[in-house]
Amino acid sequence: MRDATPQTIYLSDYQPFGFLVDEVALTFDLDPHKTRVRSRIAFRRNLAVESAEFFLHGEQLTLISAQIDGKPITPEVTDRGLTCDVPDGPFIWEAEVEIDPKGNTALEGLYMSGGMYCTQCEAEGFRKITYYPDRPDVMSVFTVTINGPHPVLLSNGNPVAQGQNHAEWHDPWPKPAYLFALVAGDLVAHSDRFSTMSGREVDLNLYVRPGDEGKCAFGMEALKASMKWDEDVYGREYDLDIFNIVAVDDFNMGAMENKGLNIFNSAAVLASPETSTDDNFERIEAIIAHEYFHNWTGNRITCRDWFQLCLKEGLTVYRDSQFTSDMRSPAVKRISDVIDLRGRQFAEDQGPLAHPVRPESFQEINNFYTATIYEKGAEVIGMLKTLVGDDAYAKALDLYFERHDGDAATIEDWLKVFEDTTGRDLTQFKRWYSQAGTPRLAVTEAWDAGKGAFTLTLTQHTPPSTATPKPEPLVLPITVGLIGEDGAEVVPSRVLEMTEAKQSFTFDGLDARPVASVLRGFSAPVVLAHDLSKQERLLLLAHDSDPFNRWEAGRTLARQSLLATITEGSAPDAEWLGALQAVLSDEALEPAYRALMLGLPSHADLANTLYDTGNTPDPAAIHDAVEATRDAMAQAFASTLSGLYDRHVVNAPYQPNAEQSGKRALTNAALALLTRVQGPERAQAQYDQADNMTQQLSALAALLRAGHGDKALAEFEAQWRDDRLVMDKWFGLQVSQAAPEQAAEVAQKLTQHTNFNWKNPNRFRAVFGSLATHHAGFHHESGKGYALLADWLIKLDPVNPQTTARMCSAFQTWRRYDAARQEMIQTQLDRILASPTLSRDTSEMLSRIRG
Ligand code: PHE
Ligand code: ZN
Repeated sequence: MRDATPQTIYLSDYQPFGFLVDEVALTFDLDPHKTRVRSRIAFRRNLAVESAEFFLHGEQLTLISAQIDGKPITPEVTDRGLTCDVPDGPFIWEAEVEIDPKGNTALEGLYMSGGMYCTQCEAEGFRKITYYPDRPDVMSVFTVTINGPHPVLLSNGNPVAQGQNHAEWHDPWPKPAYLFALVAGDLVAHSDRFSTMSGREVDLNLYVRPGDEGKCAFGMEALKASMKWDEDVYGREYDLDIFNIVAVDDFNMGAMENKGLNIFNSAAVLASPETSTDDNFERIEAIIAHEYFHNWTGNRITCRDWFQLCLKEGLTVYRDSQFTSDMRSPAVKRISDVIDLRGRQFAEDQGPLAHPVRPESFQEINNFYTATIYEKGAEVIGMLKTLVGDDAYAKALDLYFERHDGDAATIEDWLKVFEDTTGRDLTQFKRWYSQAGTPRLAVTEAWDAGKGAFTLTLTQHTPPSTATPKPEPLVLPITVGLIGEDGAEVVPSRVLEMTEAKQSFTFDGLDARPVASVLRGFSAPVVLAHDLSKQERLLLLAHDSDPFNRWEAGRTLARQSLLATITEGSAPDAEWLGALQAVLSDEALEPAYRALMLGLPSHADLANTLYDTGNTPDPAAIHDAVEATRDAMAQAFASTLSGLYDRHVVNAPYQPNAEQSGKRALTNAALALLTRVQGPERAQAQYDQADNMTQQLSALAALLRAGHGDKALAEFEAQWRDDRLVMDKWFGLQVSQAAPEQAAEVAQKLTQHTNFNWKNPNRFRAVFGSLATHHAGFHHESGKGYALLADWLIKLDPVNPQTTARMCSAFQTWRRYDAARQEMIQTQLDRILASPTLSRDTSEMLSRIRG
């Protein structure tokens, strides 16, 4: 139902709850449409809080009965919750409610997916299960009883009783309601064990639907590796006798860290060589780690309120990126993270949805699970670590866990542990949490030959936004190294700490003017403007000892070449191509790293750069320039690529490890280019011989792009018809590989396929996420892409507001484009906004985007 007056919640209004919850007992009698939930909750006044208003959240619940201390009462019920008079002393609240899991298509609260029951309570889903103070600062110990005719009945904590159609669970760790979970169904377990550092034996289970047993082994290994890593690196041990993971097919997000019972989107946990790509394996490993790491950064220490979301998410993303770096290649992980940050977070931070890492207001918290809170939140932690150093970071984290274990904490608490361990004043650093917008960092150089002094002058500027109209200078850790004319490093990496709007740093005692490698490792999430000459960039591309900046030099040259093609129609830069070819042939470099070198800035990245430099991006021109550049790369590198392909093609049995997947990344990047100049034979051969999904899907993509994919596409469908996750790839790839003028039609046609189950978020995203990220297709001048997406968002919103609202961000960059496109988009935005029953989620997103 549309809220007549959408309510805005402010951080500054925070008030603690007037009651404490000593314990919670819940009993579920499961039934698809009429599940009964009985609650017995021990409340007591929190005397530290003045207000004693007793309000329990509750939505979409049918209240059957309520009692206080055994006496029936009649509370005052609204569609948001209830209130009633309560005794002064401690009391027992009891209620029985009825809910409809099968009718719950929003996938929030208790719902059904493929015949099983499961829950999703973060952020505010528990209130759809029973009446409760559904806020993260109210923590309690839960005992859960489940009755229902299902072989597997799971909840948080440790099992205390299991019987036929009956189970009881007890979680000894006080937790907020958003970490509650329940699962029931006909599931099979892939089981293992882990002994913790202090010798606790933990049972590990990965529960899946029958038929998916063969896709569990990798996830389980990733879980054990995560448990070990968190002990080794952060000293964090697991704290229950059992750890369960459940895979569900219908899930709005990637996964959820419920205490002792993580629930995963099946796409984020199920893996096998035949059905999953190398990228899938890497992502699954990272998500398993992420959710497991939340056990300490999220569960043992949780958030006081949802404004503090980055406290757990920024830190946990940072921790999972450290884990991936340790398991795989740090350079490759850093570059991939920066590509992702620029693609998603920069777009958000430079458009109408910009918000600080710690927002100060929101209407619907589900709309704030964003790249800014997650990825920029993690960057902020990386900067803090760079500024204080590794040892101080480790000490601060130890103090954080010691001081705040069991707390619902804030960003102030987090920064205080750093201040207390290092003696630093972090007042200015805190602006990273309160200011929106991507800072611009301009670098100019001066060389004093007489003194051998090289000076870098840095100027920072954050463009103002609605969220932050008057940004102030930030603390920027800027890692810099200097390189000599011969490519040798003359000054190794050091961190310049910038705190003013403009600041100079001088390096003395140099024999000759160096080339500056600035912002090594992407040490701060800024847009860098450093006027290096092409020769200097070529030198960095050939010699920079910092792998990130070496890659970045190549990327900047690529971007400049592409921009010249787009705006002046010039041919791709031959010098850049020559230098790139040398890097590709350098067998001392990891194959995965060379594969990244073969990438080009995305269409969206180019559109953004054009817009930033005062041009109106033309999606068709961008597309043509990228195609021309790829053709030129293919022609120039043909023999090199052929050699690379033959030398690095993996013949050993498939392993999803970094080494093999790096080789496949390189050979498949080569294949994509080679297919342009050599025709489809090599791709067809790879397709026919493939015994794993990475090889099969890469070959299929190359064939589709070359216009030779019809046969393989049909074979693929016949082979994988019954595999939901593989079919998501089949749907998505057809859209992403379509020609710009066909993308919307292809998507539209796919929505008529019998397997287009649009209520499944993975399937919906396979088609429409691919359309929205097909820049030239989505923004095709016909406007068909806009209209089709709008049609389907209108259709999905009443069924699943969360997924609808997230997908609205496809329109967030609309003001960058020409008047005709803006008008078409505005028409569609208004058409969606005019839906009579638009959800709070979607209406908040659209009104922010539309402005
Ligand atoms: N907390 C989850 C994570 O980051 C994300 C999530 C949020 C999942 C809301 C579902 C709903 O790991
Ligand atoms: Zn998380």
